Order: sequence, then C-alpha cells, then structure tokens
Amino acid sequence: MQNTSSTQNKNTSSARGASHAGGDGSNGGAHDSAAPFLTDVKTLRERARQHIQQGAVTENYGADPKVVVEVLNAALATEVVCVLRYKNHYFMAQGIASEGAKTEFAEHAAEEQEHADKIAERIVQLGGEPDLNPETLTKRSHSEYKTAQSLMEMLREDLIAERIAVESYREIVEWLRGKDPTSKRLMEEILAVEEEHADDIQSLLAGMKSD
Ligand SMILES: [Fe+2]
Ligand SMILES: [Fe+2]
Repeated sequence: MQNTSSTQNKNTSSARGASHAGGDGSNGGAHDSAAPFLTDVKTLRERARQHIQQGAVTENYGADPKVVVEVLNAALATEVVCVLRYKNHYFMAQGIASEGAKTEFAEHAAEEQEHADKIAERIVQLGGEPDLNPETLTKRSHSEYKTAQSLMEMLREDLIAERIAVESYREIVEWLRGKDPTSKRLMEEILAVEEEHADDIQSLLAGMKSD
C-alpha cells in the first residue's frame, strides 16, 4: 500500500490538520492548514450555517423546537450517511489486507448508528419526527457518501467526513447554547466521539504512509 503517486500529492501529510505548512499553491485562503479538504468542508459548513441562520430569523428564535428539530434532523442525516459509508468501506476493504481498518470501520459504523438513534430519540422528545427519508438523506447530510477504490482513498474520505461532522457539530453545539441544554449536551457527547473517530482514521492513514 505504498502507492503515493499521482493522486497522492505532496500535501497528504497535512491530514492531521493543524501543522501543515506548504500547500499546493491553489488555495491561499484563511484556512490553509487543511488545504486538501478545504473546499468540501467549507461548502458543507456553509450549508449547515445557512440552516441555522434560517432558524435564527424565526419569531421564537431561542426556543423554537421546530428549528431545533430541523437542525437535529440534519445531524441525523449526517449520522445515517456515515453509517452507510462505513458499512460500504467495511465490506469493500475485504481482501486488501486491511484487518485493522476493517475493525475500525465496523466500530465506527456501530457508533454512528448509536448517534443516529440518540438524535432521533431527542427529535421525538421535542415533538418532531426523525426524517429518515432515503430520497433526501444525502442532500440533507453535512457529510457525503463516498465509495473508494483503495483503502487509502477510503480512509481519506472517512477523515474528510469526520472533519465535516466535527466542524458542523461544533457549530450546532454553540448554536444550542442557552437554547436547549439537553440537545446541546447530546451533541457535545457525539462531537467528542467524532473527534476520536477522526483521530483513529488519521492514525491508520499515518501508518499506511509510513509503510
Ligand atoms: Fe457519529
Ligand atoms: Fe464519526
């Protein structure tokens, strides 16, 4: 798995996310420390933020359960898409001598499912309905469903998805502050696990690169 040729440019070492220096010159924006993932993360964060801003302009801004349900439904869609992506990666990684990664994929899939269930429960508590409509799931999800041809690509896609989840959940936690402490606590707990996921995937990627 030491394929570091065409698709792996010199920036792949930046995946840890904070200490990257170079950049490929195509992206000189403010968030240059995450250059390879920047476009997707920015776009998706903007989408999440837009959603939240819509809520902010409703009459009962601070405590409208419908708006909280809407935001939680976006997080629910994100979790379900993550379950499906990890499941796909779990099965497709077979035969690539990737037992360690397979174990992580299975664990992450199970944990994303737990997150989805907890968010769905909270939505019901708020008088809403968990939106599990498969036709709109990927559009509503913050992260994307990406298949991949190699283990390296899978891990990169998973890291991108986890980073998107971390960023958007952090914003949701901040937005919930002072409005709904229970939902905030739930999203904080989930956020902590997503950070662990990102770290797990990063460690696997780092291991592959040093092979
Ligand atoms: Fe999750
Ligand atoms: Fe995750």
